[in-house]
Amino acid sequence: MKVFYYTTTGNCLYIAKNIGGELLSILQMLKQKKTHFKDEVIGFVIPCYGFDVPPIVRRFMEMHSFEAEYFFAIMSYGNVLAAGLSEFDKVAAQSNIKLHYTNGILMVDNYLPLFKVEDQLAKAPGKKIDEHIQIIVDDIKNKREKPIEKLSAGTKIISAIIHGYNKMLKPTIDKKFSVSDSCTHCGTCAKVCPMHNIVVSEQVEYQHNCSFCLACIHNCPEKAIHVKGEKSGARFRNEHISLKEIINANHHVRQDL
Ligand SMILES: Cc1cc2nc3c(=O)[nH]c(=O)nc-3n(C[C@H](O)[C@H](O)[C@H](O)COP(=O)(O)O)c2cc1C
Repeated sequence: MKVFYYTTTGNCLYIAKNIGGELLSILQMLKQKKTHFKDEVIGFVIPCYGFDVPPIVRRFMEMHSFEAEYFFAIMSYGNVLAAGLSEFDKVAAQSNIKLHYTNGILMVDNYLPLFKVEDQLAKAPGKKIDEHIQIIVDDIKNKREKPIEKLSAGTKIISAIIHGYNKMLKPTIDKKFSVSDSCTHCGTCAKVCPMHNIVVSEQVEYQHNCSFCLACIHNCPEKAIHVKGEKSGARFRNEHISLKEIINANHHVRQDL
């Protein structure tokens, strides 16, 4: 079983680790020459971004082909999934993949412009995250089928509005970030950035090729990076996932921290 994942704060990696098999970082795979993947079971574990699929995951799906008897897709989200998973279903269909099993899973929301991390962490026990992960793990182990659910008219409309907003986001959105004096120039932000958008020398310099995933902000050991309008200074990384694991998943050169 091959499980492809994309993560910035560890939720998807935690799910993927629970599912097991050969775990493959989508970002690492994008840097390899191999474009075709074959296995008995192939799965994708990805976060919901703006009721949609993260753009880099779309790019990965467009550039690769897959062959399996059983395909699954799990999308983690923090509050509202809306069309997220059904958009991935469309992306998969374009790659000739019929998803046998799909599921969303409520995790801690890491979207700082809307939510306080403290509030989202307080809501976590009520989300019964581990219970839900175990149900998904069992479903996949037994190759159960759960095709994509139809969206209501309201969800389609709201999702279309948010998708329109997503399209307006420019790679220069990193101009909303600021770095405080507590920055030690350790370079972690550059290592976790999926877009290689950060150069650290005397200063932290953003290159205006930002996907607004917030990996740099959440994973900064000094909490020195801020985004305009953030609801608090608290930061999130899944408690079961280390910074080293995020770096290994996202950085183009393996680092020993
Ligand atoms: C840019 C961005 C957009 C997001 N959009 C949504 C969303 O539309 N709905 C939602 O419920 N959560 C949304 N989230 C929250 C993440 O989907 C959620 O925290 C996810 O579990 C993060 O997974 P990761 O830790 O593996 O990166 C968003 C997060 C980011 C950074």
